[in-house]
Amino acid sequence: MAENAKHLLLVDDEAPLREAIAERLGDHGFVVEQAASGEDALARLSEFAFDVIITDLRLPGVDGRAVLDAALERYPDIIAIIITGFGTVKDAVNAIKQGAADFVTKPFQFDALLHVLNSALEQRRLRSENAYLRSQLEDRYRIDGLVGRSVVMRNLFQLLETVAATSSTILITGETGTGKELAARAIHHNSPRRANRFVALNCSAIPETLLEAELFGHVRGAFTGAVGTRQGKLEQAHKGTLFLDEVATMSPALQAKLLRVLQEREFERVGDSHTVKIDVRIIAATHADLSRMVADGTFREDLYYRLNVIPVQLPPLRERREDIPLLVQHFLQRLGAEQVPPRTVTMSQEALRRMMAYSWPGNVRQLENIVERALAFSHGRSQIDVGDLGHEIENVPAAGADSTLFPDEGLDLERYIEGVELTLIKRSLERTQGNKVQAARLLNLKRTTLIEKLKRLERGQPV
Ligand SMILES: Nc1ncnc2c1ncn2[C@@H]1O[C@H](COP(=O)(O)OP(=O)(O)OP(=O)(O)O)[C@@H](O)[C@H]1O
Ligand SMILES: [Mg+2]
Repeated sequence: MAENAKHLLLVDDEAPLREAIAERLGDHGFVVEQAASGEDALARLSEFAFDVIITDLRLPGVDGRAVLDAALERYPDIIAIIITGFGTVKDAVNAIKQGAADFVTKPFQFDALLHVLNSALEQRRLRSENAYLRSQLEDRYRIDGLVGRSVVMRNLFQLLETVAATSSTILITGETGTGKELAARAIHHNSPRRANRFVALNCSAIPETLLEAELFGHVRGAFTGAVGTRQGKLEQAHKGTLFLDEVATMSPALQAKLLRVLQEREFERVGDSHTVKIDVRIIAATHADLSRMVADGTFREDLYYRLNVIPVQLPPLRERREDIPLLVQHFLQRLGAEQVPPRTVTMSQEALRRMMAYSWPGNVRQLENIVERALAFSHGRSQIDVGDLGHEIENVPAAGADSTLFPDEGLDLERYIEGVELTLIKRSLERTQGNKVQAARLLNLKRTTLIEKLKRLERGQPV
């Protein structure tokens, strides 16, 4: 496969037509994937950054407009070409308004489609020298600075909103760079405590001896160097939120003191006997497996249960690759706007594909850094390409789409399976030039079962 071959998704429920077009597009150097239904197309789009999508508008189930919408929303740079039925120019016009590049009307000659396709590619090449970002990130895919469109992230946003309304203690877990601190801030900013302070304390960044004073404050002379009385982070967070980052690194002595704060909502400053009452919401975070540490005896079990009242888990980026295009847009917009003068930069689909195939051990933080570095390397250009991404990612083979696809929007399982069945039966018949006995053998079915299935599927009845 040529390095810069265009990846194309062809969506049409008419198998013979679709396969014929796919084959000829293949002859012209395109890498073609086929989808027989809108559901299938959505699933493929959520996993892979195609350069081009060609879709029929009329599809059973999820229709072509929804497919077009999903494609353009995820990949502002994708080239979309619409196939419409005879006499439905109005639909085509609407599709163009929606952002499609062009359309062809059925029945059409392959050459007409190829012409439309090539001129759209040419236009895009010219325009990307003067690129722009069409889609603004939508509110439903973000909460404060946290963006994501995968099902796990959307569920997480809902959870964050729900828990924000309470004062319950929260334990946020997740690998490094998955957005634990951002999630903690989002909770605070959506909570009734938002008018008061969000105070963060990183338990691993401060030497053990100072951590206690940092958390509880101290009075004058409490220890060498304690020249005056100082408020600790707990007091600073009064009526607000205290974020205890890397809580797993706390010493046993401090764990005991923190437990008391959680149970009694009171404490003493270091070197003082006066008890201070406090109203603070505590959010703790860790990338460690606290339940394992409890089992190993390195973290107090009672404290674990006091902290883990509401667990919030941030999934690693490699488990939600469909968030990558959105995150890339988000960082390109933010970082591009910060440049002097501000720049509007896009990412090529090939670059995006590499990013979607990469494993991201440093999660979103790593992705943010790579986008930032790529912006610097792409100086003067309006598009980031593979060469700007750095070695780790350049060397990832741009994988083909996964075979276990799942669309963000979910799917109708039975309908989907029927679609797959119908496609496979039709393919087997094509392969055998319509010979049902041979086709049935290829599918390990009885001939009568094959005929029965085919009839029902074509009538759209349950099988
Ligand atoms: N879903 C997201 N949307 C936008 N930005 C994100 C998202 N997740 C993380 N980030 C960004 O990635 C970087 C790391 O996030 P954050 O500091 O919250 O991670 P963390 O889980 O606390 O990491 P660590 O365990 O290393 O402290 C930040 O710059 C943050 O803005
Ligand atoms: Mg952090």
